[in-house]
Amino acid sequence: MTSELSPIEKAKFIAAKQATEYVKSGMKVGLGTGSTASWLVRCLGEMVRDEGLQIKAVPTSSRTAQLAREVGIDVITLDEARWLDVTIDGTDEFDADLCLIKGGGGAHLQEKIVATASDQMIVIADASKKVDTLGSFPLPLEVIPFGAKTTQALIEETLIGMDVLGRDVTQRMAGDMPFISDEGNFIFDLHLRRIGNPRQLSLILNQIPGVVENGLFIDICDVVILGYGDGRVEVTDLTNDSHQELRFDVRDDDNIFFDIAD
Ligand code: A5P
Repeated sequence: MTSELSPIEKAKFIAAKQATEYVKSGMKVGLGTGSTASWLVRCLGEMVRDEGLQIKAVPTSSRTAQLAREVGIDVITLDEARWLDVTIDGTDEFDADLCLIKGGGGAHLQEKIVATASDQMIVIADASKKVDTLGSFPLPLEVIPFGAKTTQALIEETLIGMDVLGRDVTQRMAGDMPFISDEGNFIFDLHLRRIGNPRQLSLILNQIPGVVENGLFIDICDVVILGYGDGRVEVTDLTNDSHQELRFDVRDDDNIFFDIAD
């Protein structure tokens, strides 16, 4: 029951549930990765099962693909879909321009490809993800393993000329081994603390050979749905320049999957 969820999980659930309003039968939907996106996948699975919702979904990671199949969502590849009506995903940070840092789960490459191939990208988040300036959350970079140490040195050199506060670059690990993305690549985390010019940084980082993609999403996200633990929801929509505050009535029997939140 929702009453057994922590306020932060409740906020994520509420944002995810509100986002399902944007999903209609017949749509092709991109499914994000992470704990917030997994609430969305479960909500959509419930709608498929109980309400006859008919969608085809493109997951942004092997984890999401597995969960989507488990809850009964019809999963297809992006090549099969070609273009999507909407992608709904979480974020690690977002600012007032709806620029994002993503990739805390190491899935930002597929996430960016899928979101870019969508008419609309909707971000679902709890209030902790809202920032004045991006950069407190380390910026993930997907890097091919070949020559990765050299690529790291080039990244560090490049950061010297950038409008950032910190310049530490660390390789993401999974225990004693390097973290490996779904595409078989490494992830480097850039501890920048403050990103003065996200647009410029994103363009320049992607010029470095060996860097596949950075976790900055600029001009990709259209709508942010922010959930709060007390049931409030804020919807910011850049497409019509609107900001709406709603209240989500959470019933105790609304959430039947509290025990499988990750
Ligand atoms: C996955 O690579 C990320 O981009 C996630 O979407 C992001 O880290 C948000 O995850 P949570 O919803 O778990 O905070």
